[in-house]
Formats: sequence, structure tokens, C-alpha cells
Amino acid sequence: MALERTFVLLKPDAVARRLAGEILGRFEAKSLKIVALKMLQVTAELSKQHYAEHVHKGFYPLLEEFITSGPVVAIVLEGPGAIGVVRTMLGPTNGRDAAPGTIRGDFGLSRQMNLVHGSDSPEAAAREIPIYFKPEELLTYSASLDPWTCAGDEK
Ligand code: RTP
Ligand code: MG
Repeated sequence: MALERTFVLLKPDAVARRLAGEILGRFEAKSLKIVALKMLQVTAELSKQHYAEHVHKGFYPLLEEFITSGPVVAIVLEGPGAIGVVRTMLGPTNGRDAAPGTIRGDFGLSRQMNLVHGSDSPEAAAREIPIYFKPEELLTYSASLDPWTCAGDEK
């Protein structure tokens, strides 16, 4: 399993509901490493860039209204298989369908207000990370707990 970087966005509902720390803590407890993090307000233009695949869909105007409605926290997480691991931790799009134990399953009942975005593929991660972060904002570092993430042949 390759070491991957994935883009995560704590959406306005996660920040407004004071769940940002709790959600970020789940990713840290999973052994994913924070390599970039910032708080920002998504503009309409940024929303159209991020959700380019959805811009022409009927639900897009409401999605843009929601994602621009308050501050968000943009994060890049790194770890073995990080992209799929984060998607599994999020659960399905609609919180009503998401199993307990997943973030969307534990904290929400909504399809739109589903707390967190996570890149759904390596291609999506490669496209999304530079939308939110300059290369120099991605920090490469080793931490003393790194050897406890997994065995060398699992990376
Ligand atoms: P995300 O991109 O935010 O991580 O969510 P996702 O992959 O689980 O879902 P996706 O299909 O990419 O949809 C992006 C966001 O658009 C809203 N949505 N609304 N009304 C609808 O039918 C509908 N479908 C999707 C959700 O907020 C979803 O997170
Ligand atoms: Mg998506």
C-alpha cells in the first residue's frame, strides 16, 4: 500500500457545530499525519473549482450556498492508503445511510450537511490539494511515532 496524501475539508457545519477538533482527532488517532492545515472561507469561485464535477448538476446551487456559508478547515493528511482510509472513515454521502462508527454516521442526518469532504481517488487528491495549498504549505517531516504507524512492508 503506497504512502498517499489526501485532501480533507471540514465543512461549515463541522466548524459551526464545534466538531472540528473531534473529527480531526479521529484522523490523528487513526495514525494519519497532518501535513497541511488552514482555516478559510470558501468563495463561490473556489467552490466551482473544488466541485467542478458537480457544477452543472441540479443540486449545485444549494451545495455552493452551503459550502460558502461559513468558515471551513482545509487539511492534507498523509498515510499508507490515506485516500481510501479517509473515505471509509467518512461513510456514505448521506448521514442517514452512514453506519455508526463512521463520521457521517455518528454526527449527522443530512446529505448536504455531511461534515467532511475527502478526496475520492488519487486523481482527485492530486487535483484538489493544489486548489487549497501552495507547494510550500505542504510540510514534510518525520515524527517520533512514525515507526509505530505500520510495519515497513505495509507502506
Ligand atoms: P464530498 O465530495 O463532499 O466528499 O461528498 P461525496 O463524495 O460523498 O458526495 P458527492 O457525490 O461528491 O457530492 C458532493 C456533495 O454534494 C452534495 N450532494 N447533494 N442533492 C443531492 O442529490 C446531492 N448529492 C450530493 C453533498 O453535500 C455531497 O457531499
Ligand atoms: Mg465527492
